[in-house]
Amino acid sequence: MRARRASSFGDEASAYARHRPDYPLAALEWGMSGANRPVRDVLDLAAGTGKLTEGLASLGRSVTAVEPDPGMLAELSRLLPDVPALPGKAEDIPLPDESVDAVFVGQALHWFDLAPAFAQIRRVLRPGGAVVALWNHDDESVPWVLEFARLVRTGISRGFADSEQPLRADGFGPFEQDRFAHTHRRSIDSLLATVATHSHLLVASEQDRERTLAQARAYLESVPETGTGEFDYPLVTTVLRARRG
Ligand SMILES: C[S@@+](CC[C@H](N)C(=O)[O-])C[C@H]1O[C@@H](n2cnc3c(N)ncnc32)[C@H](O)[C@@H]1O
Repeated sequence: MRARRASSFGDEASAYARHRPDYPLAALEWGMSGANRPVRDVLDLAAGTGKLTEGLASLGRSVTAVEPDPGMLAELSRLLPDVPALPGKAEDIPLPDESVDAVFVGQALHWFDLAPAFAQIRRVLRPGGAVVALWNHDDESVPWVLEFARLVRTGISRGFADSEQPLRADGFGPFEQDRFAHTHRRSIDSLLATVATHSHLLVASEQDRERTLAQARAYLESVPETGTGEFDYPLVTTVLRARRG
């Protein structure tokens, strides 16, 4: 089931590219400042359609994208033709030893087989380089967001954000966590299209998927903040970073 969900994204690659949020640049900068070396070469691991890749490139970094799903990788190359994009998995990264200053992972670390993935991330990082994992999730301190998230069960994608079990990785210092406020300009249609790309709905039966989306639409139409056109959907970006020893 986990493998099916981890590989469920590609069929919906262009919907994914249109509807998933990007990441706040302050969160990317905080992640990079976890390295104690200048950050020039960056790997975006599990790059998907390039949401994070684009932010890293906009900060002037030389970014390489690695992604196992051919549909996602093709969409990334179409959107960001200048970024080197390689097929590959976290557990077998197709880059030379000590070739990057930071490895970024957007909304994907929880899919990895962690021990081999961290061994590979450590191998491709230069000494003092940083691994940075990010998750965008709903800002559930906002009451209507909390209720919407409960209806569509988006909480499932928080990954290791706020995990009670601190993340550890051999050969890395302790993980530090910070959070960044973020928003995503939405309409009811675009928000529901995003929810439809969440992995638990991609693998749900057609009937369950339609029922969940209809309930969510009825709720959003009844809420003053969302019922009358475009709105800023409140998100939090949680970032974990650790330095290679
Ligand atoms: C939720 S998407 C995130 C994509 C992108 N990083 C973003 O922030 O939009 C998760 C991605 O992880 C990829 N993935 C799943 N398992 C992986 C693995 N073991 N190694 C590398 N990538 C993996 C999927 O193919 C998918 O593109």
